[in-house]
Amino acid sequence: MSKKIFSGVQPTGNLHLGNYIGAIKNFVNLQNDSNNFCIYCVVDLHAITVKQTPKELKKNIRETTAAFIASGLDFKKSIIFNQSMVSAHSEGSWILSCVARMGWLNRMTQFKEKAGKDKEKASVGLYIYPILMAADILLYDATHVPVGEDQKQHLELARDIANKFNLDFDSSNFLIAPEPLIQKNFARIMSLKDGQKKMSKSDPSDLSRINLNDTKDQIFNKIKKAKTDTMPIPENENQLSNRPEAQNLLGIYSCLNDQPLFETINEFSGKNFSEFKDKLANLVVDKISPISSEINKLLKDENFIDKVLNDGAERAGEIAEKKIKDIKKIIGF
Ligand code: TYM
Repeated sequence: MSKKIFSGVQPTGNLHLGNYIGAIKNFVNLQNDSNNFCIYCVVDLHAITVKQTPKELKKNIRETTAAFIASGLDFKKSIIFNQSMVSAHSEGSWILSCVARMGWLNRMTQFKEKAGKDKEKASVGLYIYPILMAADILLYDATHVPVGEDQKQHLELARDIANKFNLDFDSSNFLIAPEPLIQKNFARIMSLKDGQKKMSKSDPSDLSRINLNDTKDQIFNKIKKAKTDTMPIPENENQLSNRPEAQNLLGIYSCLNDQPLFETINEFSGKNFSEFKDKLANLVVDKISPISSEINKLLKDENFIDKVLNDGAERAGEIAEKKIKDIKKIIGF
């Protein structure tokens, strides 16, 4: 079945192994199935829901674009663009914010986590960010959205918004309720310092994550210092329950080596973590270093990156403008 794929990544500093395994690696697999039509967006409008420095933001937009390309996204096969260049995203977001209900947004756990204790000081944008995300997806009639586990609730909201719009305006199937594409295993890569916490750009400790532009030495050092427990690697998956750090590291190995967890366990069963960590660090370096050197190479040619984004915005704009026109007609503008 042919799928229309849409997904986005925020340009907020270094991308990390969680973004790569949870999202970008799958973007590439989906793109390489010729039945799919894929659109990948650098979501800069989402990034400004928290404070950004203009110069840094510009640099990060280019860096995220470079990371897409370096990871294997092909701007000829897929549309690659940044959100702020297609104004339909902002327009659509306003219209859909009149469809979404306060009660729905109040349930969003990511807002609660990101706003922390001082909710009153969070930007309104941070609160309504899932509506912008719904607009991103619905403007392109995306049927499938590849994301990590943490975005699942936002996708459910996008489905609710699509269904309510269709019902309110008696336009059944006009907005397509998208299906999430979340990998069954290891859709949430955890911090190297705490197996209960998601690997995240916003963790103050750089040792908690592997960044796509880390050097070989940094990768070895971070994996060496990654938290584990005192037991050896178990004989089967059941023995991994209540061992979140061990589970995470074995999961990272399995994902990067494209093999099921049980195979990794069989490979290392009974061995101690120092031996496994050495193999893991080598594997991470093997997979990440080519991406990181390609990112650096691409970033030397800003004109090239800007051209990819301009061309992508033109192609995306054509689709989104048409949809927003239809939306306006339906609502009576
Ligand atoms: P963002 O920028 O926080 O993350 C980008 C993608 O990386 C995934 N991810 C992870 N996956 C596994 N383990 C982790 N530790 C981990 N950390 C991040 C995220 O699930 C995501 O898929 N709101 C979105 C971006 C967005 C979007 C969209 C996505 C905007 N519009 C439309 C899909 C469709 C976000 O902030 O992702």
